[in-house]
Amino acid sequence: MAATETDKHPVPEGARITVCEVGPRDGFQIEASFIPTEKKIEIINALFVAGLRHMQVTSFVSPRAVPQLADAETVLAGIDRPEGSMITALIPNLRGAERAVGAGVDAVHTVVSASETHNVKNVNRSIDASLGDFDAVFALLKSAGVGIEGGIATAFGCPFEGIVPPEQVARIAKIYQQLGATSVGLGDTTGMATPTTVRAAVRAIRAEAPGLGIGLHFHNTRGVGLACVMTGLEEGVTHYDASVGGLGGCPFAASATGNICTEDLVYLLNESGYNTGIDLDALITAATLTQEVLGRELPGQVMKSGPRLRRFDPGLTERAAG
Ligand code: COA
Ligand code: ZN
Repeated sequence: MAATETDKHPVPEGARITVCEVGPRDGFQIEASFIPTEKKIEIINALFVAGLRHMQVTSFVSPRAVPQLADAETVLAGIDRPEGSMITALIPNLRGAERAVGAGVDAVHTVVSASETHNVKNVNRSIDASLGDFDAVFALLKSAGVGIEGGIATAFGCPFEGIVPPEQVARIAKIYQQLGATSVGLGDTTGMATPTTVRAAVRAIRAEAPGLGIGLHFHNTRGVGLACVMTGLEEGVTHYDASVGGLGGCPFAASATGNICTEDLVYLLNESGYNTGIDLDALITAATLTQEVLGRELPGQVMKSGPRLRRFDPGLTERAAG
C-alpha cells in the first residue's frame, strides 16, 4: 500500500523497498480445504516476526464466492498488529468497504480488472459498472480515514482476452487518481507480465496519471516474476507484492498459479543492497510453518536452499571417485 516512488530512476542501491505480503489473501484464497482461522493467524504473526509490516491479510468478498476467506473479521481481530504496520484487505464493492472499515484495516485494495471478461468472472459486472460503484466506496473510505490502493487485475494480459493495452491500464489508473487513490497496484493475475510489458504499463501510467504511486504484483506462472521485479526497480518502482512460500492464484482466472515468493524476493532485494527490513531466516521459518499447515511442498526456492552463505558439512557429501 501507499506505494511511493523515488525521484531517481532506477531505484538506487540502499533504498527502502516495500515488500507487501499477500499470502494470507492471494495465497489462501485458492486453497480448496479450509485453513483453520487460528492457523491463518499463526502464519500472519510469524510473518510479522520476520519484519513484514505491509500485509494484505484477507478479503471482504462474498463468502459464497471465496469460502476460504469467510473468516475475515475473525482473522483481523486475532492478529498481533505491530506498531507502524499497514494492514490491508481486498474489497470488491461497498459491502466490502463497510466490512473493512468495521474490522479496522489501515487501507483497502479495491479490485477491478483491465479486461472485461476477467472483471465479469471475478466480480460479476462490467469494468464501467465496477468503476461507477467506486464513487460511494471511496466516499465511505475517505470519511473513515482508511487508505486506498486501486487494484487493477489482469494488468499485463488476460487469460481470456490476451493482450491488455497499457493505455487501458493507464485509463483505469487515471480514474482511480481522480477518485482519490494515492497509488495503484498492477496485478499480473496469471503471470503474463514480461519486462517489456512492465516497462510499458509503468510508463503509460506515469504519462497519464503523474504523481500516482505504483505497486507491482507479479505471479510466477511463467518463471519470470523476479525478472519483472528487476525491470520495476529500473523504472523506479519501490513497492512489490509477494506471497510466503510462493502461494497464490485467482480462483476466477484460468491457469492461475502462485505469486512471486516472498523469501525469494527478499533474498534478491537484500542481496542487491536494498533495504527491506525483513529477516530472511525468520521469513524462512514462517514459510516452513506455512508449508506444514498446508501439508504440501510449496514452490518457494530459498526456503529449500537457505540463504546464499549457508554452509554444509563436507563430511555429509559424497566424494566422486573415478
Ligand atoms: N461481503 C460479503 N457478502 C457480500 C459482499 C461482500 N463484500 N458483497 C456481496 N455480498 C453478498 C450479498 O449480501 C448477497 O448476499 P445474499 O444473497 O445472502 O443477499 C450476495 O453476496 C450477492 O450479492 P451481489 O451484490 O448480487 O453480488 P454478486 O453475486 O453480483 O457477486 C461479488 C459480486 C463482488 C460480491 C462477488 O463476485 C465476489 O465476492 N467476488 C470476489 C472475487 C474475488 O475475491 N476474487 C479474487 C481476488 S482478485
Ligand atoms: Zn494475485
